[in-house]
Amino acid sequence: MPDTGPVQKDAQKHNPNNLPMRVAAVYERVIDANLARAWENVLDWEHLPHLHDSSFSSLELEDAGEWGWRARTKGVPQETSQETLIELVVDRPNSRYVSRTLAGGLPGMEIWTHFTKVDERKTQIKVEFHIPNVDEDGAAKLGGLMLGLYETLWDEDERMMVERQAALDAKTAPNQTAEEPLIDLGDLEALNAHLPLTIELAGKPVNIVRIDDALHAYSAECPHMLAPLSDVPVDNQGCITCPWHGYRFDVKSGKVTNGKNLSLSPGFEVTVTKDNRVEISQT
Ligand code: FES
Repeated sequence: MPDTGPVQKDAQKHNPNNLPMRVAAVYERVIDANLARAWENVLDWEHLPHLHDSSFSSLELEDAGEWGWRARTKGVPQETSQETLIELVVDRPNSRYVSRTLAGGLPGMEIWTHFTKVDERKTQIKVEFHIPNVDEDGAAKLGGLMLGLYETLWDEDERMMVERQAALDAKTAPNQTAEEPLIDLGDLEALNAHLPLTIELAGKPVNIVRIDDALHAYSAECPHMLAPLSDVPVDNQGCITCPWHGYRFDVKSGKVTNGKNLSLSPGFEVTVTKDNRVEISQT
Protein backbone atom coordinates (compact mmCIF):
# COMPACT_ATOMS: atom_id res chain seq x y z
CA MET A 1 0.00 0.00 0.00
CA PRO A 2 1.50 3.38 -0.97
CA ASP A 3 2.21 5.76 1.89
CA THR A 4 0.16 8.78 0.89
CA GLY A 5 -0.21 10.60 4.23
CA PRO A 6 -3.11 12.42 5.85
CA VAL A 7 -6.02 13.79 3.83
CA GLN A 8 -6.71 16.48 6.44
CA LYS A 9 -4.85 19.69 5.56
CA ASP A 10 -2.60 21.00 8.37
CA ALA A 11 -3.35 17.75 10.18
CA GLN A 12 -0.80 18.34 12.97
CA LYS A 13 -2.50 21.62 13.97
CA HIS A 14 -5.30 22.04 16.45
CA ASN A 15 -8.70 22.51 14.83
CA PRO A 16 -7.47 23.11 11.25
CA ASN A 17 -11.05 23.56 10.01
CA ASN A 18 -11.82 26.35 12.52
CA LEU A 19 -14.87 24.68 14.01
CA PRO A 20 -16.53 25.97 17.21
CA MET A 21 -14.78 23.58 19.62
CA ARG A 22 -15.04 22.69 23.34
CA VAL A 23 -12.68 20.61 25.46
CA ALA A 24 -15.18 18.07 26.79
CA ALA A 25 -12.84 16.18 29.14
CA VAL A 26 -9.21 15.46 29.95
CA TYR A 27 -7.99 11.99 30.84
CA GLU A 28 -4.62 11.43 32.51
CA ARG A 29 -2.76 8.38 33.77
CA VAL A 30 0.67 6.82 33.99
CA ILE A 31 1.04 3.54 32.13
CA ASP A 32 3.54 0.77 32.83
CA ALA A 33 5.09 0.99 29.38
CA ASN A 34 7.95 2.94 27.88
CA LEU A 35 7.69 5.41 25.02
CA ALA A 36 8.77 2.80 22.47
CA ARG A 37 5.83 0.57 23.39
CA ALA A 38 3.46 3.56 23.54
CA TRP A 39 4.36 4.78 20.00
CA GLU A 40 4.26 1.24 18.65
CA ASN A 41 0.74 0.97 20.03
CA VAL A 42 -0.33 4.25 18.40
CA LEU A 43 0.67 3.06 14.90
CA ASP A 44 -0.76 -0.41 15.47
CA TRP A 45 -4.18 0.12 13.85
CA GLU A 46 -4.65 -3.62 13.41
CA HIS A 47 -5.36 -4.34 17.08
CA LEU A 48 -8.47 -2.16 17.38
CA PRO A 49 -11.23 -4.67 16.49
CA HIS A 50 -9.45 -7.54 18.29
CA LEU A 51 -7.87 -6.29 21.51
CA HIS A 52 -10.64 -3.67 21.77
CA ASP A 53 -13.47 -5.88 20.54
CA SER A 54 -15.88 -4.48 23.11
CA SER A 55 -15.45 -1.00 21.53
CA PHE A 56 -14.71 -1.67 17.82
CA SER A 57 -16.45 -4.30 15.69
CA SER A 58 -14.58 -3.65 12.44
CA LEU A 59 -11.78 -1.67 10.83
CA GLU A 60 -11.09 -1.16 7.15
CA LEU A 61 -7.74 0.45 6.53
CA GLU A 62 -7.45 3.21 3.91
CA ASP A 63 -3.84 4.23 4.42
CA ALA A 64 -1.00 3.87 6.92
CA GLY A 65 2.61 4.90 7.33
CA GLU A 66 5.00 6.50 9.78
CA TRP A 67 2.74 9.58 9.64
CA GLY A 68 -0.20 7.62 11.19
CA TRP A 69 -3.17 5.85 9.64
CA ARG A 70 -6.69 6.33 8.34
CA ALA A 71 -9.46 3.77 8.60
CA ARG A 72 -13.20 3.23 8.49
CA THR A 73 -14.37 1.78 11.79
CA LYS A 74 -17.59 0.63 13.38
CA GLY A 75 -18.47 0.40 17.03
CA VAL A 76 -20.39 -2.26 18.91
CA PRO A 77 -22.84 -3.71 18.04
CA GLN A 78 -21.88 -3.63 14.38
CA GLU A 79 -25.47 -3.79 13.04
CA THR A 80 -26.53 -0.52 14.64
CA SER A 81 -23.21 1.34 14.55
CA GLN A 82 -22.56 4.18 12.19
CA GLU A 83 -19.37 3.94 10.15
CA THR A 84 -16.76 6.47 11.24
CA LEU A 85 -13.74 7.57 9.24
CA ILE A 86 -10.87 8.23 11.62
CA GLU A 87 -7.48 9.68 10.78
CA LEU A 88 -4.70 9.39 13.35
CA VAL A 89 -1.72 11.69 12.77
CA VAL A 90 1.47 11.66 14.84
CA ASP A 91 3.51 14.71 15.80
CA ARG A 92 6.65 13.09 17.22
CA PRO A 93 8.66 16.29 17.80
CA ASN A 94 5.92 17.44 20.17
CA SER A 95 5.39 13.94 21.57
CA ARG A 96 1.71 13.93 20.68
CA TYR A 97 -0.80 12.60 18.20
CA VAL A 98 -4.33 13.42 17.15
CA SER A 99 -7.15 11.09 16.28
CA ARG A 100 -9.60 13.10 14.18
CA THR A 101 -13.07 12.09 12.99
CA LEU A 102 -13.32 12.92 9.29
CA ALA A 103 -16.79 11.50 8.67
CA GLY A 104 -19.57 9.79 10.64
CA GLY A 105 -19.93 10.07 14.41
CA LEU A 106 -18.88 13.58 15.44
CA PRO A 107 -17.14 15.01 12.35
CA GLY A 108 -14.27 17.29 13.29
CA MET A 109 -13.82 15.78 16.77
CA GLU A 110 -10.15 15.74 17.76
CA ILE A 111 -8.67 13.57 20.47
CA TRP A 112 -5.19 14.82 21.31
CA THR A 113 -2.86 12.54 23.27
CA HIS A 114 0.44 13.73 24.75
CA PHE A 115 3.18 11.37 25.96
CA THR A 116 5.75 12.28 28.59
CA LYS A 117 8.48 9.88 29.61
CA VAL A 118 8.37 9.16 33.35
CA ASP A 119 11.21 6.65 33.42
CA GLU A 120 12.51 3.70 31.39
CA ARG A 121 9.31 1.74 32.08
CA LYS A 122 6.60 4.33 32.56
CA THR A 123 4.89 6.95 30.41
CA GLN A 124 2.52 9.72 31.44
CA ILE A 125 -0.39 10.15 29.07
CA LYS A 126 -2.74 13.09 28.79
CA VAL A 127 -5.76 12.85 26.49
CA GLU A 128 -7.88 15.89 25.58
CA PHE A 129 -11.26 15.47 23.92
CA HIS A 130 -12.09 18.42 21.64
CA ILE A 131 -15.68 18.27 20.42
CA PRO A 132 -17.15 20.63 17.79
CA ASN A 133 -20.60 22.17 17.60
CA VAL A 134 -21.73 21.17 21.07
CA ASP A 135 -23.10 23.18 24.00
CA GLU A 136 -21.82 22.94 27.58
CA ASP A 137 -24.26 20.23 28.66
CA GLY A 138 -23.63 18.17 25.54
CA ALA A 139 -19.89 18.48 26.03
CA ALA A 140 -20.17 17.34 29.66
CA LYS A 141 -22.24 14.32 28.67
CA LEU A 142 -19.93 13.32 25.81
CA GLY A 143 -16.88 13.98 27.98
CA GLY A 144 -18.16 11.52 30.59
CA LEU A 145 -18.70 8.86 27.92
CA MET A 146 -15.22 9.45 26.49
CA LEU A 147 -13.56 9.12 29.90
CA GLY A 148 -15.22 5.73 30.47
CA LEU A 149 -14.31 4.52 26.97
CA TYR A 150 -10.68 5.64 27.26
CA GLU A 151 -10.25 4.06 30.68
CA THR A 152 -11.19 0.71 29.09
CA LEU A 153 -9.07 1.24 25.96
CA TRP A 154 -5.97 2.21 27.94
CA ASP A 155 -6.46 -0.68 30.41
CA GLU A 156 -6.47 -3.06 27.44
CA ASP A 157 -3.56 -1.33 25.71
CA GLU A 158 -1.48 -1.24 28.88
CA ARG A 159 -1.98 -4.97 29.47
CA MET A 160 -0.83 -5.70 25.91
CA MET A 161 2.21 -3.42 26.18
CA VAL A 162 3.26 -4.92 29.52
CA GLU A 163 2.98 -8.47 28.15
CA ARG A 164 4.81 -7.57 24.95
CA GLN A 165 7.63 -5.88 26.88
CA ALA A 166 7.97 -8.96 29.10
CA ALA A 167 8.20 -11.19 26.01
CA LEU A 168 10.80 -8.89 24.42
CA ASP A 169 12.80 -8.81 27.67
CA ALA A 170 12.73 -12.61 27.85
CA LYS A 171 14.16 -12.80 24.33
CA THR A 172 17.11 -10.57 25.15
CA ALA A 173 17.80 -11.91 28.69
CA PRO A 174 20.68 -14.36 29.03
CA ASN A 175 19.15 -17.83 28.92
CA GLN A 176 19.24 -19.22 32.47
CA THR A 177 17.26 -22.29 31.51
CA ALA A 178 19.28 -25.41 31.02
CA GLU A 179 18.62 -26.84 27.56
CA GLU A 180 16.08 -29.51 28.23
CA PRO A 181 15.55 -31.46 25.02
CA LEU A 182 12.84 -33.70 26.49
CA ILE A 183 10.34 -33.55 29.35
CA ASP A 184 8.50 -36.54 30.77
CA LEU A 185 4.92 -35.42 31.43
CA GLY A 186 3.95 -38.61 33.25
CA ASP A 187 1.12 -41.04 32.77
CA LEU A 188 -1.18 -40.44 29.77
CA GLU A 189 -4.44 -40.80 31.68
CA ALA A 190 -3.30 -38.51 34.47
CA LEU A 191 -2.18 -35.94 31.89
CA ASN A 192 -5.50 -36.09 30.03
CA ALA A 193 -7.24 -34.82 33.15
CA HIS A 194 -5.09 -31.67 33.07
CA LEU A 195 -5.40 -30.72 29.39
CA PRO A 196 -5.08 -28.17 27.91
CA LEU A 197 -1.76 -27.53 29.61
CA THR A 198 1.05 -25.01 29.20
CA ILE A 199 4.59 -26.05 30.04
CA GLU A 200 7.98 -24.52 29.46
CA LEU A 201 10.45 -26.38 27.29
CA ALA A 202 13.96 -24.96 26.95
CA GLY A 203 12.66 -21.58 28.11
CA LYS A 204 9.77 -21.47 25.63
CA PRO A 205 6.05 -21.68 26.49
CA VAL A 206 4.41 -24.69 24.87
CA ASN A 207 0.73 -25.63 24.86
CA ILE A 208 -0.36 -29.25 24.90
CA VAL A 209 -3.88 -30.06 23.74
CA ARG A 210 -5.90 -33.03 22.60
CA ILE A 211 -7.54 -32.79 19.15
CA ASP A 212 -9.33 -35.70 17.49
CA ASP A 213 -7.97 -38.11 20.05
CA ALA A 214 -4.34 -37.17 19.50
CA LEU A 215 -2.03 -34.99 21.55
CA HIS A 216 -0.47 -31.92 19.93
CA ALA A 217 2.14 -29.46 21.16
CA TYR A 218 2.56 -25.95 19.77
CA SER A 219 4.28 -22.71 20.64
CA ALA A 220 2.24 -20.63 23.09
CA GLU A 221 3.71 -17.36 21.81
CA CYS A 222 2.26 -15.56 18.80
CA PRO A 223 4.85 -15.11 16.06
CA HIS A 224 3.38 -11.71 15.11
CA MET A 225 4.05 -9.55 18.19
CA LEU A 226 4.62 -12.18 20.87
CA ALA A 227 1.18 -12.29 22.47
CA PRO A 228 0.86 -15.07 25.04
CA LEU A 229 -1.39 -17.82 23.63
CA SER A 230 -1.53 -20.08 26.67
CA ASP A 231 -5.11 -19.12 27.60
CA VAL A 232 -6.48 -19.05 24.05
CA PRO A 233 -8.95 -21.92 23.52
CA VAL A 234 -8.70 -24.22 20.49
CA ASP A 235 -11.86 -23.85 18.38
CA ASN A 236 -13.82 -26.71 16.83
CA GLN A 237 -11.69 -26.54 13.68
CA GLY A 238 -8.49 -27.06 15.64
CA CYS A 239 -7.43 -23.40 15.42
CA ILE A 240 -6.53 -20.64 17.85
CA THR A 241 -7.13 -16.92 17.29
CA CYS A 242 -4.65 -14.50 18.77
CA PRO A 243 -6.49 -11.93 20.91
CA TRP A 244 -4.22 -9.00 19.96
CA HIS A 245 -4.66 -8.78 16.16
CA GLY A 246 -6.86 -11.74 15.28
CA TYR A 247 -4.35 -13.92 13.42
CA ARG A 248 -5.71 -17.47 13.38
CA PHE A 249 -3.43 -20.49 13.44
CA ASP A 250 -4.04 -24.17 12.76
CA VAL A 251 -2.67 -25.90 15.82
CA LYS A 252 -1.62 -29.10 14.00
CA SER A 253 0.28 -27.45 11.13
CA GLY A 254 1.11 -24.15 12.86
CA LYS A 255 0.04 -22.34 9.68
CA VAL A 256 -1.98 -19.14 9.69
CA THR A 257 -5.50 -19.56 8.28
CA ASN A 258 -6.59 -15.97 7.61
CA GLY A 259 -4.24 -14.75 4.96
CA LYS A 260 -1.30 -13.48 7.00
CA ASN A 261 2.19 -14.64 6.22
CA LEU A 262 3.18 -16.23 9.53
CA SER A 263 3.35 -19.61 11.24
CA LEU A 264 3.59 -20.70 14.82
CA SER A 265 7.17 -21.47 15.78
CA PRO A 266 7.71 -25.15 14.89
CA GLY A 267 9.76 -27.74 16.69
CA PHE A 268 7.76 -29.50 19.40
CA GLU A 269 6.70 -33.13 19.37
CA VAL A 270 4.57 -35.18 21.72
CA THR A 271 5.25 -38.90 22.01
CA VAL A 272 3.33 -41.57 23.92
CA THR A 273 5.67 -44.37 24.96
CA LYS A 274 4.84 -48.10 25.09
CA ASP A 275 4.14 -47.86 28.80
CA ASN A 276 1.73 -44.93 28.24
CA ARG A 277 3.97 -42.14 29.39
CA VAL A 278 3.89 -38.83 27.56
CA GLU A 279 7.08 -37.13 26.49
CA ILE A 280 7.49 -33.76 24.84
CA SER A 281 10.65 -32.91 22.99
CA GLN A 282 12.19 -30.33 20.71
CA THR A 283 12.62 -31.55 17.18
S1 FES B 1 0.45 -10.68 18.41
FE1 FES B 1 -0.54 -9.93 16.67
S2 FES B 1 -1.81 -11.55 16.03
FE2 FES B 1 -0.79 -12.29 17.74
